[in-house]
Amino acid sequence: MTQEKIVLTGFKPTGRPHLGNYLGMLKPSMALMREEKRRCFYFLADLHALNVVQEPALLRSYTYDAAACWLALGLDTSKVVFYRDSDVPQIGQMASLLAPLLPKSLLNMAHAYKAATAKNKEAGKSDHDVDEGISIGLYQYPLLMAADILALGADYVPVGKDQQQHLEMARDVARRFELRYGPVLKAPEPLIDQTMATIPGLDGRKMSKSYDNVIPLFEEPTALRKKIQRIVTDSSPPSAPKDPTQSTLFDLYKGFATPEEIASMEAAYRQGIGWGEVKGELFRVISRELTPAHEAYGYWRSHPEKIELLLQEGGHQARSIAQKIYERVGRAMGLLA
Ligand code: TRP
Repeated sequence: MTQEKIVLTGFKPTGRPHLGNYLGMLKPSMALMREEKRRCFYFLADLHALNVVQEPALLRSYTYDAAACWLALGLDTSKVVFYRDSDVPQIGQMASLLAPLLPKSLLNMAHAYKAATAKNKEAGKSDHDVDEGISIGLYQYPLLMAADILALGADYVPVGKDQQQHLEMARDVARRFELRYGPVLKAPEPLIDQTMATIPGLDGRKMSKSYDNVIPLFEEPTALRKKIQRIVTDSSPPSAPKDPTQSTLFDLYKGFATPEEIASMEAAYRQGIGWGEVKGELFRVISRELTPAHEAYGYWRSHPEKIELLLQEGGHQARSIAQKIYERVGRAMGLLA
């Protein structure tokens, strides 16, 4: 009998989800859910969001936003264990067991921490003050993420390319555990869709809330049109041939168009097409894909009590699986009877 493979991924509820989140993770997670021999664990990484959102009502609202997006896109709770990080205390316990195996020097190299210290250096802080304003939460983010993954026994983790380093750290911890205590934890494999490795935002840089260049996932048609109008292009005239590999519009188009549409758009670029026309076409394919889910999103967002029921049920299942793994790990380490 071939064993079911466990697919696990999380989404940090720190604001309204945008098209980068959708193409990088939410959409691939829905495709994986539909594959055979998969057991999926999809969760709202609210413990991670605490590093960013420290306003209780806002965090709760973002958590329901993220849950509503996933449900609207078709997350089927008969196929997916759907839960909140914070509903599974075994994840925090797992982080405590793993902490002694994770070298501090690895965490020093984590992107989020390095970006924060780099900012301090740019602001002219001395070596002594480079950690100013950086919490232990931010610093140990990769440890908590490894615990999220290892606590539920994930085989595969679909993530955006920006999460690759965190996945490597989780694999590293699993390997160190095995060397010391034997084969108890699985080393998780990242699933990164290389065609959609980096999703550009309005200004062509990576789409990210911190760059203020995002297109929200469920946007009203007029607002969506306006956002698309703002996508930066060069000033070449409509008849000039254009390079699709150097175009933010084309990169976004690829995320929503069919292979035939992509091929004919590519040909149009090479022959010469006006940016206005490309933008109209991008609006069309995005609306085609997202309009039905947009309506479902409205429904879920106005029924938080239904979301809550689903999360309670998912939390219950996740806890019982995580508890078994926690006990195996603890015993292997000489804890528990
Ligand atoms: N760090 C991820 C992000 O910022 C979210 C996340 C937390 C996650 N824990 C995870 C993703 C475990 C995959 C697996 O998007």
